[in-house]
Amino acid sequence: LRLPETLLLSTDCLDSGLYHGPRWRMEPGDLFIPVDSIEEEATLTCDAKSTPPPQYRWSLNGTFINLSLDRRRRLSGGNLIISSLDRYRDVGVYQCMAYNTAGAILSRRAHLKFAYLDHFKVHTRSAVSVREGQGVVLLCGTPTSSGDLTYAWVFNEYPYFVQQDNRRFVSQQTGNLYIAKVEPSDVGNYTCVVMNSVTKGKVHSSPTSLILRTDVLIQAQSDAY
Ligand SMILES: *[C@@H]1O[C@H](CO)[C@@H](O)[C@H](O)[C@H]1NC(C)=O
Ligand SMILES: *[C@@H]1O[C@H](CO)[C@@H](O)[C@H](O)[C@H]1NC(C)=O
Ligand SMILES: *[C@@H]1O[C@H](CO)[C@@H](O)[C@H](O)[C@H]1NC(C)=O
Repeated sequence: LRLPETLLLSTDCLDSGLYHGPRWRMEPGDLFIPVDSIEEEATLTCDAKSTPPPQYRWSLNGTFINLSLDRRRRLSGGNLIISSLDRYRDVGVYQCMAYNTAGAILSRRAHLKFAYLDHFKVHTRSAVSVREGQGVVLLCGTPTSSGDLTYAWVFNEYPYFVQQDNRRFVSQQTGNLYIAKVEPSDVGNYTCVVMNSVTKGKVHSSPTSLILRTDVLIQAQSDAY
């Protein structure tokens, strides 16, 4: 069920007083849907004018969707309405075709994507030891996700967040926490908190303990920081 090439010819030469090939009133736009809202419907818009009025077909990833026996997807005018959204089956590139006896036009490509944030894989994190006065990086280990993320770190107990200052920095690229010139007051448990700005979902890592190292013998090794 590939797009028939012959239907995609320009419709201009077929226009006459009585018959007009379709022209767009509304083409579909990209959709970025939070996975939590998966019970809701998504609407891909498509509207064209023509004489006689157009009919519509939709393709997903270049393959026509046959809506005749489809329980989840239906047409409303030219709009494609998808219910019971599925993170795997509905993702892809959609295109609308409007056609009548005088011609056919193909819309822009609209991407449908899902935003999500998986949980951290549950495992205990080994303690990180650092000498007083040195620097250390605590890795967040962001879980699989789609959509913009923001990061924060909880120190010991919620809701005490690490306050960024001239010694402490949270990378909003990686989620990692950088602590310079470690002080005894930095000792404790650090939990990475990841928030997805599209889904508003939030997940917590298991804690990493930061401990002070006192062993003088391995100073050369830890000086590598
Ligand atoms: C769509 O599916 C129905 C039922 O399987 C079939 O009869 C019909 O020919 C199909 N339509 C197209 C355009 O392939
Ligand atoms: C459509 O194509 C994209 C990119 O190749 C792929 O990730 C997605 O799974 C495809 N969608 C379907 C429904 O096959
Ligand atoms: C850090 O966590 C460990 C293990 O859960 C606990 O024994 C310890 O008391 C915690 N330290 C602080 C400062 O909360």
